[in-house]
Amino acid sequence: MQSLRLRLTAYVLGVVLVAFAVFFLYEALVVGRAFEREARRHGEALAAALAEALEGRTPAEAEALLPRLAAAAGVRIALEGAGGRPLAVFGAPSDEGALSFRRPVVLAGPAGAPVTLVVTEAAGRRDDLFSGPWGPGLLGGMVLLGLLSLFVYRVATEVTRPVTQVAEVARLISDEHYGVTVDVRGYGEIAELTAAINAMSRSLALQMKRIRDDEKRFGDILMNMTSGVVLLDARGRVVFVNRAAEGLLHLAHRPTVGRHHVEAFRHFELSELVERVLETKAAARRELQLYFPEERVLDAHLVPLFDDDGRLDALLLVVHDITDIRRLERIRSEFVMNASHELKTPVTSIQGFAETLLDGALESPEAARRFVEIIYNESERLKRLIQDILDLSRIEQRRLPLDFRPVRVKALVDDVLLTVQKEAEKKRIALSADVDPALQIESDYDRLKQIMLNLVVNAIQYTPEDGRAVVRAVDEGATVVLSVEDNGIGIPRRDLDRIFERFYRVDKARSRHSGGTGLGLSIVRHLVELLGGMIWVESTEGVGSTFFVRLPKVRDAEETPPPRDEGGGPRGDDGRRPPAAGGGTLRTDPDG
Ligand SMILES: Nc1ncnc2c1ncn2[C@@H]1O[C@H](COP(=O)(O)OP(=O)(O)OP(=O)(O)O)[C@@H](O)[C@H]1O
Ligand SMILES: [Mg+2]
Repeated sequence: MQSLRLRLTAYVLGVVLVAFAVFFLYEALVVGRAFEREARRHGEALAAALAEALEGRTPAEAEALLPRLAAAAGVRIALEGAGGRPLAVFGAPSDEGALSFRRPVVLAGPAGAPVTLVVTEAAGRRDDLFSGPWGPGLLGGMVLLGLLSLFVYRVATEVTRPVTQVAEVARLISDEHYGVTVDVRGYGEIAELTAAINAMSRSLALQMKRIRDDEKRFGDILMNMTSGVVLLDARGRVVFVNRAAEGLLHLAHRPTVGRHHVEAFRHFELSELVERVLETKAAARRELQLYFPEERVLDAHLVPLFDDDGRLDALLLVVHDITDIRRLERIRSEFVMNASHELKTPVTSIQGFAETLLDGALESPEAARRFVEIIYNESERLKRLIQDILDLSRIEQRRLPLDFRPVRVKALVDDVLLTVQKEAEKKRIALSADVDPALQIESDYDRLKQIMLNLVVNAIQYTPEDGRAVVRAVDEGATVVLSVEDNGIGIPRRDLDRIFERFYRVDKARSRHSGGTGLGLSIVRHLVELLGGMIWVESTEGVGSTFFVRLPKVRDAEETPPPRDEGGGPRGDDGRRPPAAGGGTLRTDPDG
């Protein structure tokens, strides 16, 4: 029997039945004996009374009397002669277990012979005496037993219900339904059990929630970190790939989890690295070159992970994109190379003319003067070059303090044109400005002047004599577009993209001859970006060029670096200031 409550019911009923049976047997035994004793006494007394009543009667009298007596007493009465010879029998025949009582009686009459009176009491009659009507009793007993069974079953159900519930909750918990509880209704130990189960369930639910939260957090971190992370098992199969790794290793378009690394990565060098770490069980690192879908340099770091027994359990691959770092390194070394080359040119020149002077040119005052002039110009160029390089690196590192104030564009443009006036006159280049005097923007006056000055100087430099240059400012609402247009030599189409690069010059010999370093537009572009704007150029070779600078009218506070800390002199939209705030930054005078 499986159910506890059925078992309990059966046990209780069994015990009750056994108790009843024992009780009845006992009763039957004791009562049976008592009845037998009683029957004997009764029989004895009856026999004695009959014997006395018969004594001295005639056989005829006896025969008349005895049937009535037998019927009245419900017994069998017999008379036996000498030697047990039956003389007369009255009443029902005797049955098994009947009790007989004998008395000698002397009858009157001629014979006067002594006879034996035998009174026999039937056993059946005796049983009737104490058993009474069995039927109703049995029925009553069964009904009682039925009711008792129901009651016991109910009680058993009541007693076992909390246990059943506890079992159900335990099953639910093992099925990962954490947090379910039992209604505590029992008493004593049952109540303690349910309370304990409830506490356990709640604590499990809490712990599972914590574990899940942690799991989710770690998952989110892994998924969203910029480093690529891949987990491989000890046989080199991919177990986990985060988003960055999918992007970096170009894995997103095919299934990788569960695949062997060779199939998953499809990258010879990377698979070689994995095999090496699987074999040596030591961390390894390698730079990977990727060509598809775009050229990339990755730094792959592979670490073996061990279980508690020291067996290799997994491999952790961490991948970083170092394309930009490598590119910057290349640019930097190129820059150093270019810069050294640019610096060497004036130095060589200075050295050469100084040598010539020492070798005797000093004797001729005319030659001496010319050479010293050259030496002076070259050293001036050297100074500018060094200053430019320093400037550029300061701008690039955003260490250049900015001072944003309202600037009247017209005043600024006039300032720039005045600065280069002499220069333009030398080449008979007509300078003009087309700017609304009321136009104002919020910007750094000095940096903006540096930008415009560079562009105007270029326009003069790269425009043949008798040319013209126009500076314009167009209000476009939120922005202002400043432009410098010339009708000079123009820029070949293939060079347009590159003229903002450092040291890039379209015609190196000519540009260098003009004293240029090739850093001007590079500085301009950085400054424009620093001021939150953008720069572009339109040009046709042999026709002319126009440089455009778009700047926000009001500065975006988030984009700009902190204001300069050094105290500035009087400044403003109409304040005429010396060309360079930092000294020599502005190449205002191409002659040096
Ligand atoms: N207005 C222009 N017309 C034609 N070419 C120009 C013009 N402005 C610039 N360029 C070309 O772009 C190149 C880069 O200009 P950039 O101002 O950076 O250097 P640079 O003028 O040679 O030297 P510097 O550093 O002294 O200004 C120039 O060498 C020139 O070839
Ligand atoms: Mg220039």
